[in-house]
Amino acid sequence: MKISPLHIEFGAEIHDINLSQGLDGNLFAHIDEAINKYSVLLFRGQSLDDDSHLELTARFGTPEEEHVSYYSTGTIRYTGVIGNIDPDGKHLKNAARKVVSQTANNLWHSDSSFREIPSLHSLLYAYEVPDEGGDTEFVSARAAYQRLSTEEKNQIHNAVGIHDYIYSRTSVSEDAVSEGQRNYMRPVRQRLVRRNPQTNELNYFVGSHVRSIEGMEDDAATRLINRLMSEATRSESVFRHQWQAGDLVIWDNRCVLHRGCGYDADRYRRRLHQTRVRGTGPSLAEVV
Ligand SMILES: [Fe+2]
Repeated sequence: MKISPLHIEFGAEIHDINLSQGLDGNLFAHIDEAINKYSVLLFRGQSLDDDSHLELTARFGTPEEEHVSYYSTGTIRYTGVIGNIDPDGKHLKNAARKVVSQTANNLWHSDSSFREIPSLHSLLYAYEVPDEGGDTEFVSARAAYQRLSTEEKNQIHNAVGIHDYIYSRTSVSEDAVSEGQRNYMRPVRQRLVRRNPQTNELNYFVGSHVRSIEGMEDDAATRLINRLMSEATRSESVFRHQWQAGDLVIWDNRCVLHRGCGYDADRYRRRLHQTRVRGTGPSLAEVV
């Protein structure tokens, strides 16, 4: 398997693999090892459809139902559609509710950190990409953890963050969430420090969904969250991915934050499909 790094801190491109043909056990084991090591993997030139995309997702664990339709209409679906193309192919413009709501993806976050069992990996595959804009940025909260002082590491070691989807989405727009989401998506508790059981490496777990730290005054919690976020997202630590149609990117939500970079939905079409792998349990049950 040919691997080349994407950034000095994390990330790798995997070359010469056709993911639509299925992976034998040996090759899958190498990819699984690579995602644990590099946190973000890029495969270019793929030709997936929703079935092969979901089949690949299921190799990593249990696919997670997509939260927008699940909490809005109760429909179970495993593929989320990102961008401005609606299901019958119509091009949605900047003012469309779905496009406005998705601008919350431009805040640094870890997918599904608002679920009691947060997501393990996301798999995002590009069908249509704009000529300009629409990049995705990634940072490693594992590398960032290593930059903390021993005192800071000790301070956060057993802390619990409160992650709240309604809080983060309504920071962008009050109608970014549906009635069903408001009713059913309650804040959840997540360990602030997590350990990868395969590599034993530690990282911290933050992002736009974090609204507070349990047992900490709001001001102090906000200062701590801001400190951790700015350390993780300093400019030299960012890997910015410029999408091409046919790219599949897999990332490890336990230790990576990502954000969209925005694009002009009036001018361009953008359509990516995303699946997620459910984590193996609540972060609170992890041994750190
Ligand atoms: Fe995301």
